[in-house]
Amino acid sequence: MTQDELKAMVGRAALEYVEAGQVVGVGTGSTVNHFIDALASMKERIPGAVSSSEASTARLQALGIPVFDCNAVGEIAVYIDGADEIDPRGHMIKGGGAALTREKIVAAQSRRFVCIADDSKRVEVLGRFPLPVEVIPMAAQRIVRQFAALGGQAELRHKDGAPLVTDNGQHILDVRGLRIGDPLAFESTVNQWPGVVTVGVFAHQKAQICLLGTSQGVRTLRFDGA
Ligand code: 5RP
Repeated sequence: MTQDELKAMVGRAALEYVEAGQVVGVGTGSTVNHFIDALASMKERIPGAVSSSEASTARLQALGIPVFDCNAVGEIAVYIDGADEIDPRGHMIKGGGAALTREKIVAAQSRRFVCIADDSKRVEVLGRFPLPVEVIPMAAQRIVRQFAALGGQAELRHKDGAPLVTDNGQHILDVRGLRIGDPLAFESTVNQWPGVVTVGVFAHQKAQICLLGTSQGVRTLRFDGA
């Protein structure tokens, strides 16, 4: 099976976690795009979705799925999103699609995070994937130096020859060379640095369940007790 077929498989499998009559939280990325396409088949049974990016909003609306603002809904029953890495306790690196801030906001408002990923995303220790960090532009170079002091090499993400601008009007640093052995402590520390909007470690907002796409089928990993 190709990586895209694995992503499509877990995208469809996530429908099982969508609760009829409940607004669903929707993440961002190529795996989530498969989920959104599958969600269209049950759109009559849900009021709609809360979305974590302009890209996902456009896809949801094109399929006739209403999109609500976070502030217009209360607690969200379930949030479905992909990941760039996931460790054995459900901690993740996210933000490869630059949507990490809104992803963390919707995840924080949700009772349960169901991660959908192909099995290449599973790691023992977070840090192989360059860590995305959304930053206020005027703080970027100081934050680059703060990561250097931790042994990380941070670079400004570019798109079409210019610094990438997120849905929130900010920039993204991608940090290589980190080994994140204590994701909870790391997330708390970096979040305190002035100018950091969001660090792409999801440890405080970790997954409770991961649907992992493998060539043998969908494996369900549970992290509730971890
Ligand atoms: C976007 C994300 C995505 O969930 C992550 O990058 C995984 O993407 P994909 O499903 O395309 O592999 O965090 O900001």
